Amino acid sequence: MSHYMLDWNQYRALARTAIAEGAVLLRNEHDTLPIKAGSTVSVFGRNQFAYYKSGTGSGGMVNVTHVTTPLDALQRCDEIRLNGELLQVYEAWLEENPFDKGTGWAGEPWSQKEMPVSDEIVLQAAAKSDLALIMIGRTAGEDRDNSADPGSYLLTDTERDMLHKVCRAFEKTVVVLNVGNIIDMQWVSEFHPSAVLYAWQGGMEGGEGLVDVLTGKVAPSGKLADTIAQSIDDYPSTANFGYEDKAIYQEDIYVGYRYFETFAKDKVLYPFGFGLSYTTFQTEVAQASESDGLIEISFKVTNIGSVPGKEVVQIYVEKPQGLLGNPARSLIAFAKTSTIEAGESEVLTYSIPVGDLACYDDGGVTGNKSCYVLESGTYRIYAGTDVRSATPCFEYQVDALRVISRLSENMAPVTAFTRMKPVSSETGYTVTYEEVPLRTVNSEARRLAERPENREYTGDKGYTLADVYHQKVSLDAFLDQLTDDDLACMVRGEGMNSPKVTPGTAGAFGGVSDRLNAFGIPAACCSDGPSGIRMDCGTTAFSMPNGTLLACTFNLALMEDLYEMTGMELRKNRIDTLLGPGMNIHRNPLNGRNFEYFSEDPLLTGKMAAAQLKGMHRVGVTGTLKHFCANNQEFHRHDLNSIVSERALREIYLKGFEIAVKEAGAYAIMTTYGAVNGVWTAGLYDQNTRILRDEWGFQGVVMTDWWAKINDEGGAPSRNNTAAMIRAQNDLYMVVEQPDANPMDDNTSSSLADGSLTRGELLRCAANVCRFIMRSPVMERALGVKERSVEVVGLDEVNDEELDFDMPYQPIVDGGQISLENIDTSTGSSHVFAVALEEPGKYEVTITARSSAGELAQMPVTLLQNNVPSTIFTFNGTDGQWVSLTREVFFFNKHAYLKLFFGLSGLEIRDITFKQLQPFHMKDA
Ligand code: BGC
Repeated sequence: MSHYMLDWNQYRALARTAIAEGAVLLRNEHDTLPIKAGSTVSVFGRNQFAYYKSGTGSGGMVNVTHVTTPLDALQRCDEIRLNGELLQVYEAWLEENPFDKGTGWAGEPWSQKEMPVSDEIVLQAAAKSDLALIMIGRTAGEDRDNSADPGSYLLTDTERDMLHKVCRAFEKTVVVLNVGNIIDMQWVSEFHPSAVLYAWQGGMEGGEGLVDVLTGKVAPSGKLADTIAQSIDDYPSTANFGYEDKAIYQEDIYVGYRYFETFAKDKVLYPFGFGLSYTTFQTEVAQASESDGLIEISFKVTNIGSVPGKEVVQIYVEKPQGLLGNPARSLIAFAKTSTIEAGESEVLTYSIPVGDLACYDDGGVTGNKSCYVLESGTYRIYAGTDVRSATPCFEYQVDALRVISRLSENMAPVTAFTRMKPVSSETGYTVTYEEVPLRTVNSEARRLAERPENREYTGDKGYTLADVYHQKVSLDAFLDQLTDDDLACMVRGEGMNSPKVTPGTAGAFGGVSDRLNAFGIPAACCSDGPSGIRMDCGTTAFSMPNGTLLACTFNLALMEDLYEMTGMELRKNRIDTLLGPGMNIHRNPLNGRNFEYFSEDPLLTGKMAAAQLKGMHRVGVTGTLKHFCANNQEFHRHDLNSIVSERALREIYLKGFEIAVKEAGAYAIMTTYGAVNGVWTAGLYDQNTRILRDEWGFQGVVMTDWWAKINDEGGAPSRNNTAAMIRAQNDLYMVVEQPDANPMDDNTSSSLADGSLTRGELLRCAANVCRFIMRSPVMERALGVKERSVEVVGLDEVNDEELDFDMPYQPIVDGGQISLENIDTSTGSSHVFAVALEEPGKYEVTITARSSAGELAQMPVTLLQNNVPSTIFTFNGTDGQWVSLTREVFFFNKHAYLKLFFGLSGLEIRDITFKQLQPFHMKDA
């Protein structure tokens, strides 16, 4: 019997709601939007055809059955007519100017060449339509930051010209931005479009949700998750962004609106939290009080407009400056109403622990070093629908300094630098800089003193992991049976495309060798994330709206429901944890991965991530919070050292993770590629043990990012220093090809031998891995418990070929061959098989085939590697003779699902041969 029902229609409907609720309406003069029924609309911009469903890199590689573009959705919409002539002009131009995919990883252009529009085209369009929609698109992503140039953060000249001409000719103009994160907006005051809507990247259903907003089916309720300033140079982090070796976080806690509201209000074009609706709300404080350390506030939100809508009421605090100095506003709570009908009201209530108003004293200026404190003074609480317009609603008085929690110094910087601090002036606050408190503890001595007990190897006592699961034996007793080599293997994840788990996924961990399997440890599976499931062998999945869009919904209940669907989809695909949510802070608008992340604000980030986890936890799977922490730039990400104060770490960069761990019980987390204050995070004991586990109570597994580097403090980072990783309690090195062969020459065993790593430390990581496995679906399968199966309903499209999870990988020795006799080669058919090469690298692949067709016949055979086209063998007629065609193909992984796609029937295929030309190993990369 099926325990879970994954209703694709419900999934789609939830995503569509999120897309509509995440769209942020920045401007709507003369009620331009919604588009009135019966209107004729001229759509400008090539992006109407090639909508960006997400950004690029691992977070964007979800295979989909379709993407609903804005144009698709508009065409399906009966109430409006499109200007067909203009459409044809675009179609003709696109024939000549096809979509430029770029080449390879991080090689996609940030935008596409735009079609120049003449005055004539624009005037003709204006004469026959009521409104112009202008679509502008941008992408960026992993390993590829945005740049402050035209085509990325700025508009190109062609786009500017299009805006200029269209806004001059049409009375009603709506600019729709299909972008991963905010872009420059100065053009609004130059060209005065009558409406501007941030649609972000909405995933495969993006067009549907967008058109719901455009046509007024849904009134917009999205709010900016980031501040839009006049210029990129106005963001204080810009000066320290984009360097190769280090990023100095001089702006400290003054990130986003924390900076602008304190020091540079006049630089803001659109404040954090801002977004218009088609209706108007009135909010009044119904009640505000404090008792027993809880501030209770309730608001009555009344829809005084004429259409139904939702509103977000945000609560901010203005803390006293005290000795520490503070931003003028910090978000402390938010809530969204349900749909309120015109004339109706809803009451929102908030309970805010006064401890949430505290600041972290990293230098001890208040006399309480490493404590969260409430300095004395008045804490003014503001409420409103954006940070700027929020008005005072309560005051909380602290008469004498109060310590909220007494922690310890961790992750403190060792490099001297100065940080921002406000100083009061007649006009408000001005920026001064103070020296950042540096590290005062000997972290290494402290780590050594805190090492776990060192237990001995007991030999095989016949216990299996199932015995631990059934509480017949302790986890310690079970693990004591494993040799040092077994344990060293257990901290190596296998991937990508491990044959032990779901094809095409990023990694396997736990039971990654026969010996470990013999102890009953199965291999758990993880897969990217965050915006849908990535399976590189071509399995299709639901592609979700991006992180920024989801944050702009400010709707936690919706997030839970939506990610419950993803949870079921994970289960269905036998994946135990998604590699997401991505929850780094939008420190600077140029970070390429902002699209995966939520916001410049840590509370919004943490709450969103917690909601996604809660949704997945409903069905017994989880997500992997990433990247822990301060992954705020893609350029040189493997080697970048982020130099940050402990206060900024605590209050900004760690805060979201803390919320997700404490509120949602996260049990998987991924560290970053780079370093924080000189230590690469995979080996950062203070972060992965002292803060995450000892302070926050995390009980799960910590994994590295894929092929991350690790160092001993002061030492150079390398990909084989797993000893430093294990000592820090980062439990898994992700990923290697064959874990029991130690292909990266990691130093786990040699460090055990020289005493710099203890068996106790290794056991501690292995225990974390086992605990993860025992609470995951993979254990149910290993135990033979009938898996909580997932029944999928409502999926009307053919989901490609359903992949056979258990397809055997055919081992190929160098020069080896696979027979392909009798496979179907008719037009449009394909043949899928899985190979296990001896090692990754460059190969000569030869296909032998024959055909009785004439010699000019062309019969293309495309070889797809994990569903990505690799090469094409075009056979001509062979007069019945066997003919061999050879191509060079690069195999990044030794395990691959291969597909041959036959473009035209008429071939008889005999076999395919693989001959190695050059090996490739990640450790040498
Ligand atoms: C990314 C991670 C991702 C991993 C596996 C890395 O390149 O930084 O976010 O989860 O690859 O695909």
